[in-house]
Amino acid sequence: MLQEIYQPNPHYASTAAIKNMDEYHALMNKAKEDYEGFWGDYAKEKIDWFKPFDTVLNESEAPFYKWFEGGQLNVAHQCIDRHLLTRKNKAAIIFEGDNGDQQVLTYRELAYEVNRTANMFKNQFGITKGDRVVLYMPMIPEAAISMLACAKIGAIHSVVFGGFSAEALRDRIIDAEAKLVVTSDGAYRKGNPYMLKPVVDEALSKGCECVQAVCVVERNGEEIHWEPGRDYAYNELVKNESPKCAAEPMESEDPLFLLYTSGSTGKPKGVQHSSAGYILWAQMTMEWVFDLKENDTYWCTADVGWITGHTYIVYGPLAAGATTVMFEGVPTFPDAGRCWRMVEEYQVNQFYTAPTAIRLLHKTGQDEPKKYDLSSLRVLGTVGEPIDPAAWKWYYEEIGGSKCAIVDTYWQTETGGHMISPLPGATPIKPACATFALPGIIAEVIDEEGNPAPIGEKGFMCITKPWPSMIRTIWGDPERFVKSYFGDCKKDGKPVYFTGDGAMIDEEGYITITGRTDDVINVSGHRMGTAEVEAAIKKHSNVAAVAVVGKPHPIKGEGIFAYIVLKSEESLAEEIELTKEINNIIKKEIGAIALCDDIVFVPDLPKTRSGKIMRRILRSIVKNEEITQDTSTLEDPSIVGKIESIVKSCRL
Ligand code: PRX
Repeated sequence: MLQEIYQPNPHYASTAAIKNMDEYHALMNKAKEDYEGFWGDYAKEKIDWFKPFDTVLNESEAPFYKWFEGGQLNVAHQCIDRHLLTRKNKAAIIFEGDNGDQQVLTYRELAYEVNRTANMFKNQFGITKGDRVVLYMPMIPEAAISMLACAKIGAIHSVVFGGFSAEALRDRIIDAEAKLVVTSDGAYRKGNPYMLKPVVDEALSKGCECVQAVCVVERNGEEIHWEPGRDYAYNELVKNESPKCAAEPMESEDPLFLLYTSGSTGKPKGVQHSSAGYILWAQMTMEWVFDLKENDTYWCTADVGWITGHTYIVYGPLAAGATTVMFEGVPTFPDAGRCWRMVEEYQVNQFYTAPTAIRLLHKTGQDEPKKYDLSSLRVLGTVGEPIDPAAWKWYYEEIGGSKCAIVDTYWQTETGGHMISPLPGATPIKPACATFALPGIIAEVIDEEGNPAPIGEKGFMCITKPWPSMIRTIWGDPERFVKSYFGDCKKDGKPVYFTGDGAMIDEEGYITITGRTDDVINVSGHRMGTAEVEAAIKKHSNVAAVAVVGKPHPIKGEGIFAYIVLKSEESLAEEIELTKEINNIIKKEIGAIALCDDIVFVPDLPKTRSGKIMRRILRSIVKNEEITQDTSTLEDPSIVGKIESIVKSCRL
């Protein structure tokens, strides 16, 4: 790792929200000395409460923590209506389509659209407080509008990423018992239309009794199947609705949304977020980590189907009164200069993306940044996966002109917002290092007994005190919530939140995330459960056993590598055919994002005598590492050598 330290740019530090490490430590000390006072003060200052809260934190049913009980608010009001007094004509959302279409929605226009949509959900579809609405949407303003319309009337949205298959969508609809699905005919990608509505049709064709209606936004105008009595045209219906809609008063702990994410076992989990705690931290981190100023243009390239899109395209920026850019396309179309052209055109001040995108743009468009004026940039962010020093340096020098802070933000779907990140005006940055926990977040790297991990040694990345934007439960499965997050690590004898990541702390207290310690793979910053991919592969009639592991990938961070044992021996030609069939099943069951980069057929898997698959051995083989694990306990120790030579022969 590079050991240089990059000091904050003094020019920006002087006006930053947190200006130096003394201010950072003062805030952190305040939180440590009076945790509830710290959070209570911010909650009072930042949120426009309909009714003030009575208590800051209720730990009586830990780990089902409750924040700001007694308080009432509305997140859409916090994100839009309260800004109308001072920012009604400010751009709230700047949309750029894949084809270059542009649309600007001011806060006033956004309020108008959200209210009409909220009224449509209520009047046409009977959606009321607490109902679940699934959004299967492309990156168009109606996605954000629908999220906020749900928030306005107290409905709980569950956004499903548009790259998920019909089966995956169906599982999520059924688990959430959604009454309404909002989708679009499709959208545009790399200059071509692609379709979403047919995926919804397929998902619903196999029985989703809970769904009463499908509301379809027109985006690409392609022909679609229409189911009378079930399908409704968003653009037609919304026209008849009033642009006035009272905000539903919500209790602090009322769920704002569900977002499904992969775990190490079983099917995806419906992570449930709250209203008050979530929006408070979304707004605060937006202000602190991106050093937001009133006239800034902020752009996060994520998709609304992931948590980054929720917190840092929609809720955080709008709660903070910012101008947020929404982009439908991909960074490499029509060329690898697309993002930099947009930065110049919109004079973007904060640019937030994933290391995968940086590596891709570095590789495919090294000279592109030079063609554009990127001088508006002040803060560059990364999220979702570790960033390697080479990509970091290119980002810092070529995109940031060696003057921008790079905020390597570490967090998760479950944390709601950033946990560990540099602060652009304060933190001396070590490249490719998430640095320090944000003020108010008590993040510790501990060993199995809960003691601090020794300096330079891997430990468990835990958040040892509850925080406002934390996951509240797994929808419909509170036991799984406790087991998944509070089962592995303890401190002072009490269960604490374990992220599933390993981390290391250095002599100066800097935290470096070392990656997942469980069976979760991080592909292009997207979380993929090995169990899910394995379950899909097992659906092939000729598969006897399978184990999936992550394989280092130069662009995607990790790729998916599958070891498969077939029921019958096949010829090479048949194996090639099987590879295609297996990937087709994955595409159908999960989506193209879970396709295997490599599939190898092996005679058996390394299993212990009790039948447990030794995944660590399989991981070492893929990485071409020396096998250090004890193989004598295996049912058949000779299998390791056999698998090694098969994988080696594939590499040749
Ligand atoms: O392993 C960590 C990795 O992404 C996981 C969370 O994935 P997800 O819930 O999909 O949320 C992604 C966007 C927040 C984490 O458990 N991760 C996230 N950010 C970083 C990271 N790994 C290293 N460095 C990061 N900055």
